[in-house]
Amino acid sequence: MGFFNWVFLVVVVLHSVDSTIVYSSSLFSNELSKIPSELLDFAKDPVLVDWMVGIRRKIHENPELGYEEFKTSELIRAELDKMGVRYNYPVAVTGVVGFIGTGEPPFVALRADMDALPMQEMVEWDHKSKIPGKMHACGHDAHVTMLIGAAKILQEHREELKGTVVLVFQPAEEGGGGAAKMISAGALENVSAIFGLHVDHSTRIGEVASRSGPILAGSGFFEAVISGKGGHAAIPQHTIDPILAASNVIVSLQHLVSREADPLDSQVVTVAKFQGGGAFNVIPDSVTIGGTFRAFSKESFVQLRKRIEEVITRQASVQRCNATVNFFTEEKPFFPATINDKNLHEYFRNVAGDMLGIDKVHIMNPVMGSEDFAFYQEVVPGYFFFLGMQNETRKQLKSVHSPYFEINEDMLPYGAALHASLAVRYLLDFQPKDHLPEGKYHDEL
Ligand SMILES: *[C@@H]1O[C@H](CO)[C@@H](O)[C@H](O)[C@H]1NC(C)=O
Ligand SMILES: *[C@@H]1O[C@H](CO)[C@@H](O)[C@H](O)[C@H]1NC(C)=O
Ligand SMILES: *[C@@H]1O[C@H](CO)[C@@H](O)[C@H](O)[C@H]1NC(C)=O
Ligand SMILES: [Zn+2]
Ligand SMILES: [Zn+2]
Repeated sequence: MGFFNWVFLVVVVLHSVDSTIVYSSSLFSNELSKIPSELLDFAKDPVLVDWMVGIRRKIHENPELGYEEFKTSELIRAELDKMGVRYNYPVAVTGVVGFIGTGEPPFVALRADMDALPMQEMVEWDHKSKIPGKMHACGHDAHVTMLIGAAKILQEHREELKGTVVLVFQPAEEGGGGAAKMISAGALENVSAIFGLHVDHSTRIGEVASRSGPILAGSGFFEAVISGKGGHAAIPQHTIDPILAASNVIVSLQHLVSREADPLDSQVVTVAKFQGGGAFNVIPDSVTIGGTFRAFSKESFVQLRKRIEEVITRQASVQRCNATVNFFTEEKPFFPATINDKNLHEYFRNVAGDMLGIDKVHIMNPVMGSEDFAFYQEVVPGYFFFLGMQNETRKQLKSVHSPYFEINEDMLPYGAALHASLAVRYLLDFQPKDHLPEGKYHDEL
C-alpha cells in the first residue's frame, strides 16, 4: 500500500459518514515495515514541521521549572483540544496524560518531560528565553513538541490503531522525580510498555543511539554540614577547624570508588559544593559540602549511600567535628538506573531501522548521567533512546545544561515520527494472545 493511497484513505476516514466500512481494510498490518518511513514522510510535511517549530519556540521562550510548568501544560492541552485528543489533567501538579485509539488494550505509553533549568540562556537569538535565570537547556521544549507532533500523527491515523496510545507529559525531570509522582497518580494504568527519548548533540541528525540493559546510572545527592568551633585563624588551639575536617572528608570520600568498589562496576562520587568561611583570618563555625553519587546496580547504590554517611560523620569526628548528612529523599528522590528492556531493544532496532536504516541505529556505551524515566522502567518494560541532532555542515552544538545549548530543529520530525511509529507498531505487534478465538484453534495446535 503506497503512501498516497494511505493518505487518501485517511482523508476518506475523516470525511466518510459510514466510516466503519473504510476501517475494515487494515493498511498498517499488511506492510508493517513501511509504517515508520511513511510516518517520517508525513512528519516532514512542511506545514507540520512549521507548526512544530512554532510550538517549540513558544515553549523555549517561556521556560518553567519543575512542578511550575503551568503555561507549558496549558499549551499542550490547547493543542490536544484542537486535535480532539482526550486527556487527564492535572496529573502530578502540571502533568497531562492523553489517550489516542480504541481505549482498549494493549496500552503503550510515550513520555515527554516539560521542565526547564534554573540557568540564564546565553544564546542570542529571536526566541531566547524571556524569563531571566530560566532556560530550556536540556531540550525538554523539543521533547514536548515532538510528543505533540506524534499526537497529531497518531490522531490522524487513530482508526488504524489496534489499542491505546497513552501520551505522558510529565513535570520535573531535572531532579524533582516527576516520573515517580506521575506513576503514583496512575499514569501507567493498564500500560504494558513505555518509550522515551532525549535529544543528543553528539549523534548525527537522522540517527539514534541506545542499548539493551543499563544505559544511564542511578543517582542521588547529598549535603553535609560539618560543625566545629570558629575563632581566630592565628589561634587554632582555641578552635575546632571545620575547613580542615571537611577537606579530609572530601579526600576520604574518594576512596569509596577507588578502593571499595569493584573496578568493573562503574560508580561515581563527586563533591561539587564546598562552602565555608569568608575571611582570611577567621576559622568558621561550620562548612557545608555537597555532591552526587552514581551507580548502576541497586546494591552498589545502597552501599555507596551507607558509606558516604559513615565516612562523612566518622572522618569529621577524627578532627573533633560533628557532621550531619542530608540525602534529600523528599525533594530530590534517588533516581534508579535507566535499564532498557531486552525485548524492546530488538523491537526498537526493527522500527528505527525500518525508518532510518539499520546503520543509523547505533549501540552506545552506558553513561553515568541519569534520567527519571528509570522510575517508569521499574513498573513496566521501558525503552529510552537518544535522538541525534548534529549536522556536520553547521556549527557544533553544545552539550545539554550549557548556557549556550541549542537544538537543531530539523530533528523534530524524526522524534515525532519515531514516537508515533513505536506506538503504532507496538500495538500491532503485541496484541494480547488471549484474544485468539478458542475452539478449533486449540485442536490444531
Ligand atoms: C484500564 O482498564 C480498566 C479495565 O479494562 C478500565 O476500566 C480503565 O478505564 C482503564 N484505564 C484507563 C486509563 O484507560
Ligand atoms: C558535637 O556534638 C556533641 C553532642 O551533641 C556536643 O557535645 C559537641 O559539643 C559537638 N561538637 C561540636 C564541635 O559541635
Ligand atoms: C544539514 O544542513 C544542511 C545545510 O543547512 C541541509 O541542507 C541538510 O538538509 C541538513 N541535513 C539534515 C539531515 O537535516
Ligand atoms: Zn537535563
Ligand atoms: Zn533532559
